[in-house]
Amino acid sequence: MAKTKKNESIEKMEKLVSLLKRRGFIFQSSEIYGGLSAAYDYGPLGVELKNNIKKAWWKMFVADRPDMVGMDAAIIMHPKVWEASGHISNFSDPLVDCKKCKRRYRADHLLSADSLSPEYDKAKAPELKDVKCPECGGDLTDSRNFNLMFKTHMGPVEDEGSEVYLRPETAGGMFVNFKNVVDTMRMRVPFGMGQIGKAFRNEITTENFIFRMREFEQLEVEYFINPKDWKKHFEEWLNIMDNWCALIGLKKENYEKVEIKGDDRAFYSKRTVDFEYKYPFGQKELYGLAYRTDYDLTQHAKFSGQDMDYTDPVTREKYIPHVIEPSLGVDRSVLACLVEAYTEIEGGRSTTTDAIKDMEVVLKLPYALAPVKVAILPLSKKETLTPLARKIQKDLTSSFACMYDETSSIGKRYRRQDEIGTPFCITVDFDSLEDNAVTVRDRDTMEQERIEISKLEGYITEKLK
Ligand code: GAP
Repeated sequence: MAKTKKNESIEKMEKLVSLLKRRGFIFQSSEIYGGLSAAYDYGPLGVELKNNIKKAWWKMFVADRPDMVGMDAAIIMHPKVWEASGHISNFSDPLVDCKKCKRRYRADHLLSADSLSPEYDKAKAPELKDVKCPECGGDLTDSRNFNLMFKTHMGPVEDEGSEVYLRPETAGGMFVNFKNVVDTMRMRVPFGMGQIGKAFRNEITTENFIFRMREFEQLEVEYFINPKDWKKHFEEWLNIMDNWCALIGLKKENYEKVEIKGDDRAFYSKRTVDFEYKYPFGQKELYGLAYRTDYDLTQHAKFSGQDMDYTDPVTREKYIPHVIEPSLGVDRSVLACLVEAYTEIEGGRSTTTDAIKDMEVVLKLPYALAPVKVAILPLSKKETLTPLARKIQKDLTSSFACMYDETSSIGKRYRRQDEIGTPFCITVDFDSLEDNAVTVRDRDTMEQERIEISKLEGYITEKLK
């Protein structure tokens, strides 16, 4: 029977998730205890990929820009921060339970799945008159708003006065430090702060592997501007986000920029454009760009009693800066990048005689993001080759993430490296002992070049550019 496109996509996702577990990228959290839903652990290769994405973002959004500075604020902040930001009163999703099977849903998701209008008054939970449980057909409870912030207590006494929250976004830590940064770094508007860090949301429904988790990581910029220039800056950041998508290997046809309409925007935003990626499980949000106006600084001025006015050092114009916020998720970047890179080659492409001619998988990650850059593969396990191969590994390890592999045939070892996206495989053979050269194979072109061992580092550095 012919496979439908939907089945193929589900199958692709299942194969990817299985590869990521089998090859040490991503594991279910607390797996030996049955796992914790919507929590995942990055394994040895996953953390390298994730760190490479974070490093690339920091370079592009912070380090390479004279108008940007970095931040690393505390996860637990003064509870007033979340009162001021509106998260305590507004950061909620509508929740319903099935009376029969006790499953829990987001009411707005049920409305959109039923093609009923998901538009409703966000202050009140929506009415779900004729909607039944999609799993068992049972009746649903009335919907009620459920705040997504995780609450905990600070200090030994668990009373109302000790309540604090795990931050639901990294943004807050940058708004409350606006004055500190202007004063200490003498930043002139327009300028921005960038931060990478964990955020926590007690999501009602979690789904699709690392797409929606309760603990995740964000890459956020708060860019402070003169309000009269907001449209110009908004367009500039749209372009920068496009460049970022290209840098992590996303093809333009695989994501769409979607203008978010009034009621669907976050409560603080006057304009939002979502970058939606075509994941195997459907087109869904990858990143967002929002015009947060002066909402946050004004609220913090009101709740803290501190003056958030800014005076331009040249024009002496005085105003509360407005904010453009490109907000990116680390985990969704990892996911989109992996989906994009996962390539199956029917019938294989290996030319070695011992290669099995069935399906080959190549993870075509951008070279700069690949968790392992170089694999060192001595042609045989014979003791004559090991010392030279190990020396090459030792010499290259300080410059590149390397892996040494001497087990099974060379064809199988190439395939193992292709599966994890290693750009370069170095084969050390018996001629290497004579000519002090090795064969370097490129993951994508499969071209093999003989390179002098003393020139390897320069050769790979050049190729990685
Ligand atoms: N400061 C604005 C803000 O937090 P958001 O659209 O709620 O906006 C920004 O989140 C990004 O964080 C999303 O585009 C997505 O990449 C990521 N994100 C949000 N919730 C997430 C979750 N539950 N799991 C994984 N990533 C998430």
